[in-house]
Amino acid sequence: MTNEQAVALLDLARQAMKRAYVPYSHFPVGAVVVTADGSVFSGANIENASFPLTCCAERTAVYAALNAGHTVIETVAVTAERVDSVTPCGGCRQVLNEFKPADHDMTVILDGPEPTILQLADILPRAFGPRDLD
Ligand code: THU
Repeated sequence: MTNEQAVALLDLARQAMKRAYVPYSHFPVGAVVVTADGSVFSGANIENASFPLTCCAERTAVYAALNAGHTVIETVAVTAERVDSVTPCGGCRQVLNEFKPADHDMTVILDGPEPTILQLADILPRAFGPRDLD
């Protein structure tokens, strides 16, 4: 993952963020995921008057990829309008973990003055995942 690639993915996440439905928090978030074959899916957070039903941007993007038939996510990039370097919430980290590649970690890109490029294990160490059930 080069810095230029990360910048390009964050640009797409910012485009997706424009579609956030955030009448309660006024905290728009945008995300993109890149699947094993290089397909890109985006998402924004979708809130609900019943607050716990809110779906974060990351999960909206992951579920768009799954709904199109992809089950392996190589990379996720996340941006938020109101803060630098927003990181996926705990629930989204666990959902991302479910779809990481079998033989290497998922790349996580955070927005900011410069992109921060991490691995999922950096933000979800010692994760519990599907292979623990084998
Ligand atoms: N949110 C996300 O979409 N992703 C995150 O990683 C953090 C939180 C959303 C959920 C809610 O719509 C708003 O941000 C405030 O929590």
